[in-house]
Amino acid sequence: MAIKRIAFLTSGGDAPGMNAAIRAVVRSGLTLGMEMFGVYDGYKGLVEGKIEQFTSKNVSHILDRGGTILGSARLPEFTEKVVRDLAVKQLKKYFIDALIVIGGDGTFKGGQKLAEMGIKVIGIPATIDNDVTSTDSTIGFSTALNTVVDAIDKLRDTSESHHRCSILETMGRDCGDLAIYAGVCGGAEYVITKETGFDKKAMLESLRKKKLKGRRHAIILTTENAVNVHKLAKEIEDYSGYETRATVLGYVQRGGKPTPEDRVLASRFGNYAIELLQQDISGVIVGISHNDMIHMTFDESIKCPFVKSQLFDLIEKIR
Ligand code: F6P
Repeated sequence: MAIKRIAFLTSGGDAPGMNAAIRAVVRSGLTLGMEMFGVYDGYKGLVEGKIEQFTSKNVSHILDRGGTILGSARLPEFTEKVVRDLAVKQLKKYFIDALIVIGGDGTFKGGQKLAEMGIKVIGIPATIDNDVTSTDSTIGFSTALNTVVDAIDKLRDTSESHHRCSILETMGRDCGDLAIYAGVCGGAEYVITKETGFDKKAMLESLRKKKLKGRRHAIILTTENAVNVHKLAKEIEDYSGYETRATVLGYVQRGGKPTPEDRVLASRFGNYAIELLQQDISGVIVGISHNDMIHMTFDESIKCPFVKSQLFDLIEKIR
């Protein structure tokens, strides 16, 4: 039976470009004669039946907007079958043939569970963390990276004026990509991530030597949860002689107009998800590899091994 009625939702931490993905899903679906249904506030809204039919007009002028017009939420209770049963009931009530879930790993775990319950589900990776290993890039990463790089450029100005060391903490949950990429773009001396850890003694010693040689300032990037930045600032100050300040960038990284890269990626992912459903392919997460659209089953994608970013070694070579 051809897939005709499609619902879509955004879930988990929002990411710039989610709106561009929603737009592409809606417009690509309508072009193929499908009926499109937006679900508000993620799985929570699905369970509560916050579902509305979308026309092309619903997604006008959203391509350039950050956040998500659908709203987002985290619903830890979605791991419970009784809660998912309510979601399935709502999908049946609206005669939905397939569901597109836009988000990160938590969203996909929910999607996988729904797929196991017989729902046709497709995942679209959208998270500033870039922690979906089955795709080269996730929607929102490029925009968040721009925000972090802009912050480093500004910190460098004041760091240099005051001969200080600046520590900047990025988001990323357990993934170091934001900090590593921003470290390369911003000429950081060190990048500390949860995956790779760091040799604190060596770092302190090298900063001390740099200070002695007259290097005016230093920038250190770290991902959240990797280290206590305020404690580290004190240690650097005591050991190296650099007056040191820590900045936690926080939620500003999740906002803002999506970059052209994120808009293109989101538009491609959204359209590809619809093309797959048209071929009756579901139970997969879409992705990009070598600039081609790809898809993998939820299982394959979730099991994809962590690959240490090649950029990590680059920082050491060009510091
Ligand atoms: O997944 C995106 C993200 O911003 C992470 O980088 C961060 O750890 C988390 O979400 C914060 O989540 P919350 O919005 O629930 O505080």
